[in-house]
Amino acid sequence: MTEKLYVVDKEIQRDKSEFVSSDVFREAMSRLSAPVALVTTDGPAGRYGLTVSAICSVSVEPPTVLVCLNRDNRSHAAFLRNGVIGISILEPGHEELAFRFASSKTDQNEKFLGADWVERLGGASVLANAAVTLVGRIAQTLSSGSHDILVAHIHDIGLHTENTKGLVWFDRAFHHLPAQT
Ligand SMILES: Cc1cc2nc3c(=O)[nH]c(=O)nc-3n(C[C@H](O)[C@H](O)[C@H](O)COP(=O)(O)O)c2cc1C
Repeated sequence: MTEKLYVVDKEIQRDKSEFVSSDVFREAMSRLSAPVALVTTDGPAGRYGLTVSAICSVSVEPPTVLVCLNRDNRSHAAFLRNGVIGISILEPGHEELAFRFASSKTDQNEKFLGADWVERLGGASVLANAAVTLVGRIAQTLSSGSHDILVAHIHDIGLHTENTKGLVWFDRAFHHLPAQT
């Protein structure tokens, strides 16, 4: 059996800080398998989008999801101002798109080029060939550390039944999940 490494931040011993270091935390979180989605918004603040993995279901009644956004992202303010969020859950083959939307340098309009988008509720566009798309209105925002947690009520869903393979982010790389047999 391989030995488990317990990493206790030296700071804890030194000044009794309650936190582990951000490097250790990042390393731990890299082992958490996560979905990969593009989140987009459009409206008075303009069209913006980025890649996220911090996204999960919150409630069925009403249908609610949460997305964690770094407040330093260029797109952050636009989501709050536009109040709408389009979510495109990615599948194998979308890796290049995921990296493009994860760039903090690429121009926002350039991010959207070369892919097919469908405009839904409130103008938010979702990827035409995404496995699943959801569009919602941002109902609540909570701040925690560097991020805002956007709570969105879902008003529109696109389910592509033929797309059954999964794309996950694990150990800082993309992995494919096979279709159910
Ligand atoms: C696989 C992956 C997952 C990511 N997940 C998130 C996330 O959940 N929340 C977030 O704020 N940024 C996340 N990022 C980073 C953003 O995509 C990145 O900072 C992007 O440049 C932000 O775009 P913007 O500055 O144009 O808004 C992720 C990046 C990658 C590659």
